[in-house]
Amino acid sequence: MNSDNVLDFLRENGQEALAWYIETREPEVRSSLIDALAGTDQRILDHIRGASEAASDKLSGSSDASDASDTSDGRIAPLGALTLTAIEAQKEAFAHTGIEAIREGKLALLLLAGGQGTRLGHDSPKGCFNMGLTKELYIFELLIEHLKEVVREAGSYIHLYVMTSVENNSATSQFFKDKNYFGYSPEHIHFFIQEQNPVLSLDGHFLLSSSEQLCYSPNGNGGWALSLEKAGLIEEMKGFGVEWINVFSVDNVLQRMADPVFFGAILTQGLTSGAKVVMKNAPDEKVGAMCTLDGKPYIIEYYELSEEMSRQTNEDGSLAYGYGVILNYIFRLDKLIASNAKAMPLHAVKKAVPYMELDESGGLKSVVPDSPNAIKFETLALDLVHEMDDCLVFEVDREKEFAPVKNKTGIDSVDTARELLKKNGYAL
Ligand code: UTP
Repeated sequence: MNSDNVLDFLRENGQEALAWYIETREPEVRSSLIDALAGTDQRILDHIRGASEAASDKLSGSSDASDASDTSDGRIAPLGALTLTAIEAQKEAFAHTGIEAIREGKLALLLLAGGQGTRLGHDSPKGCFNMGLTKELYIFELLIEHLKEVVREAGSYIHLYVMTSVENNSATSQFFKDKNYFGYSPEHIHFFIQEQNPVLSLDGHFLLSSSEQLCYSPNGNGGWALSLEKAGLIEEMKGFGVEWINVFSVDNVLQRMADPVFFGAILTQGLTSGAKVVMKNAPDEKVGAMCTLDGKPYIIEYYELSEEMSRQTNEDGSLAYGYGVILNYIFRLDKLIASNAKAMPLHAVKKAVPYMELDESGGLKSVVPDSPNAIKFETLALDLVHEMDDCLVFEVDREKEFAPVKNKTGIDSVDTARELLKKNGYAL
């Protein structure tokens, strides 16, 4: 869609009110709204047209890219892991290989901090959340402290890329600055903003966030490959001599990044990617499980797993789809670049999104919904895994490495994460 046919597109797709609203704005606002709409991903336009109805809540990539999430024709099979016991037996050798490569600057880190954290509902970036009870202990601080342990061992800093969103970028970088980068080297911390997509109402209409702007949301936890490339940062990394990238989420307060044992195991086995996993605590735990789809690594979401498959066991009685991913992956950079990151599937996710309602007279009213009213379009990190030739499934102890902060209370919450921090000896 180009700027010339934006208004026609809106009228042809039941959005006459928005077309009229835009037409009657001052020239500057009009052209900025039109330009924003003209840049909409073709797949979102197709969604609006209803052309991809069949894909229900998942939209495929470009026509020549396979939609990894469409498992209907694909053959799903279990994928074994390097278990805790197997890792223990080779730990020293793996650690030695990993730390050498880290010392040589071959690994960069990518912290995914562009999410909106709607479930936590904190009014600043999730990483600025204070896990402490009697003292300050921020999520970003915990992550940097873990990283500093590896830095001390390697004797050299590791480049850390922090992906933020349009919404939280300045608050995030200012927080790091105010806290003196928690003792990390500022020259090795690089902030960049991830791309975003327009948000639609459930009936496929664009939404306004203010009188002059559309509603946008960051393009998902898989958006980093494209965003890094667009920002020229892949080239920068290569210039630093980086060959591998370790991607991890902000919301696991026990997250162990740049783990020399994990990295060393991938290098030793000559593989192109790896995923840290934990043994699921129940067959129906709401985490994606490692498996293969048509022989290639794949992560099946908990809602895609049939009841029967979720309970299927291996010969030793363990769950066949029992290795849950914790959003900590290592990718070989050249394989990632060669992968089809640009055509990654776009997933439609229903969320509660505040917006400005447009009435018939062109007036705007603020709406703050308490249940899902809108569709966000996201790419997912797990789809990148499917682009790789292979993936080392690397088991970690969930009590020691998995304390997600997703909700305020209940499962995967601030409360459960605090308990796990205490169990691991942290003074809160
Ligand atoms: P989640 O998928 O849990 O999303 O993020 P979220 O936005 O943080 O939380 P909810 O769903 O709104 O409650 C997993 C990881 O991916 C990052 C998050 O910051 C977190 O580290 N993420 C997510 C991004 O960096 N960008 C996104 O667009 C989405």
